[in-house]
Amino acid sequence: MARVPDAWTPAVRRVLPAMRAWRMALHQEPELSTHEDRTRDKIVAALDELGIPHREFSDFPGVIGTIGADRSGPVVAIRADMDGLPVTEETDLPFRSKFPGRMHACGHDVHMACVLGVAAALMRSPRPDLGPIRLLFQPAEEEGTRGGALPLIEHGGLEGPKVDYVVGQHVDPSLPLGKVGWRVGPLMAAADKFRLVVRGRGGHAASPHQGPDAVVVASEIVTGLQTVVSRVVNPVDPVVVSVGSIHGGTRNNILPDEVELEGTVRTLHAETRDQVERAFRRKVRAIAAGWGARVRIEYERGYPPTINDAGATRAVVDGLAIELGRENVVEVAHPLMGAEDFSRYLERVPGTFLRLGVGVPGRPASLHSATFAPDERALVVGAATLGAAAEALQRGNR
Ligand code: NI
Repeated sequence: MARVPDAWTPAVRRVLPAMRAWRMALHQEPELSTHEDRTRDKIVAALDELGIPHREFSDFPGVIGTIGADRSGPVVAIRADMDGLPVTEETDLPFRSKFPGRMHACGHDVHMACVLGVAAALMRSPRPDLGPIRLLFQPAEEEGTRGGALPLIEHGGLEGPKVDYVVGQHVDPSLPLGKVGWRVGPLMAAADKFRLVVRGRGGHAASPHQGPDAVVVASEIVTGLQTVVSRVVNPVDPVVVSVGSIHGGTRNNILPDEVELEGTVRTLHAETRDQVERAFRRKVRAIAAGWGARVRIEYERGYPPTINDAGATRAVVDGLAIELGRENVVEVAHPLMGAEDFSRYLERVPGTFLRLGVGVPGRPASLHSATFAPDERALVVGAATLGAAAEALQRGNR
């Protein structure tokens, strides 16, 4: 079926003043993971104003809206995350955060405004030819372990009517403004964390032979873990094992009883994730046993890898090429080793996670930094991207 090129961009531009206002209000009052109550209230007020039916919950700040619930055709969900970060904003934006220690330093304000922009565009310029569109506003993406996607799914985010496809996006300062990045297969990593407590026998540092020295054992574990990356996993399958914290001892001439290590493990495939955890446990136990030391291993799984469905991604890329111009739809060369709980939806429903370019020459600022200020021209591209992606998935599957 032929479709009008460039259909979403003008529709979204017509609602740009509202998108800007929502984005500024959300940006000014960021809230940390699981505490997004005022953010939820702002989303609910916007949906009420637009006349979009939605569900909210007393025990959880997520919001689930649906446009065209009674229509036929595949149901496509578009998702925005809602939380800010514990960062004190250092931009000179007129709408910068009112609160020290809280900032939308990851662009989730832009993500929310884009989903609201699609909603507003559909209410102002109705598209009865489209099937149902689910709006998912999800808290706690930055939380890292349970996150907000799982609770949103448990609260019915993918049901009633049942969602067939899911689309999300994240601002990306490494990608030029106006461009959208895509990738088939793994886009982002699984992020697991560990804590190890190595127990040796403390004593005078002049008599190290009297017991396993927890400092030496811990040091050997730090270096030994790197061989899990280099000698257990296929070299073309990226893995990161990083020790980010190591604590033990109080002074130069006393050997401590205990040394504690904490770190993160990043993998791109479910099988590699299992393989690395097994090898990690084996290696740590073997090194400790070799010294006659004891070790407690706490290994906690965080978000799974974000795996984009091939068919859904290709359909979306074709739709975006028509909407934005093929030159603006670029393949992301390598997966990112950061994690994202959008992966929880992709475990259940095919779909794709996109990167929204916000990079402007001469304005380098990274995600999570106190000076991060994505260009607001990305609002139009971001909303048009979500709209065109949803439409492509519906059209490709009728
Ligand atoms: Ni983020």
